[in-house]
Amino acid sequence: MGKTREKVSFDAYYRKIYEDRWEGLQNALLSDPQQIPLDDRDSPYYLDEASVIAAQALPVSPGSAVLDMCAAPGGKSLILSRNLGATGTLVCNDRSSQRRARLHRVLDQYTPVEVRSRIRITSHDASRWALYETDQYDSILLDAPCSSERHVLRDPSAIAAWSVSRTRNLQSIQFAMLASALEAVKIGGHILYSTCSINPHENQDVAHRLEKKRSGRYRFVDTELLRGEYCDPGVLILPDSEENIGPIYYVLIQRTA
Ligand SMILES: C[S@@+](CC[C@H](N)C(=O)[O-])C[C@H]1O[C@@H](n2cnc3c(N)ncnc32)[C@H](O)[C@@H]1O
Repeated sequence: MGKTREKVSFDAYYRKIYEDRWEGLQNALLSDPQQIPLDDRDSPYYLDEASVIAAQALPVSPGSAVLDMCAAPGGKSLILSRNLGATGTLVCNDRSSQRRARLHRVLDQYTPVEVRSRIRITSHDASRWALYETDQYDSILLDAPCSSERHVLRDPSAIAAWSVSRTRNLQSIQFAMLASALEAVKIGGHILYSTCSINPHENQDVAHRLEKKRSGRYRFVDTELLRGEYCDPGVLILPDSEENIGPIYYVLIQRTA
């Protein structure tokens, strides 16, 4: 007789990870997220403060070549674009045509014309990036597709569709993207890996997989803790302890070889 796999529920899975913290964290995830305006215009772009902190943790110096691998709808791209200086360039990539349409609108509406002219929008599969381009970028943001539990919790059909194998599949995709980013960034350049997941297997464990597969070619870089808590490696901002901002996980990685 073949083995049958026990179906683990969303609730049981996260309760096992967060134990006594799960009830409060779940309630925080179900309440409305706090967002802040990115500038003082009449109709500004609003973004979760935790996303702002994560995007700002990626060093972008004037004149640099920057890649946002999974950019739509573009909130974090707006933050990266502020530090390009007079000559820097930004490639904003996303594979979804629907989300790319929104990315176009956001960048057109919220970036000055002169900066917008140095932003290119592309539609590639981020996990295959290194097949086409290597050693090109000073800074890469990889804000990876993830379980996005805040959205799952608000949608009964998404809770029903959730499964352990779905999160495992995401982990493989996330690592393939991170491995690709490591080839695409220049030696000495930085990658910021981030997700809006609360699942450590999609966060710290993806970063740790580099140890097994890309040992000696990168280092984790310490970042200042503005909100949230340190984890190994990186920072986790959870809404139950941070006035309902987040969730966001991020880790800064420097390519060394
Ligand atoms: C977390 S969202 C990005 C949010 C964005 N960084 C922001 O701040 O507005 C992840 C994005 O990855 C895109 N995506 C999913 N799979 C992809 C792939 N294989 N290659 C490129 N983009 C992908 C999705 O369409 C989605 O827009």
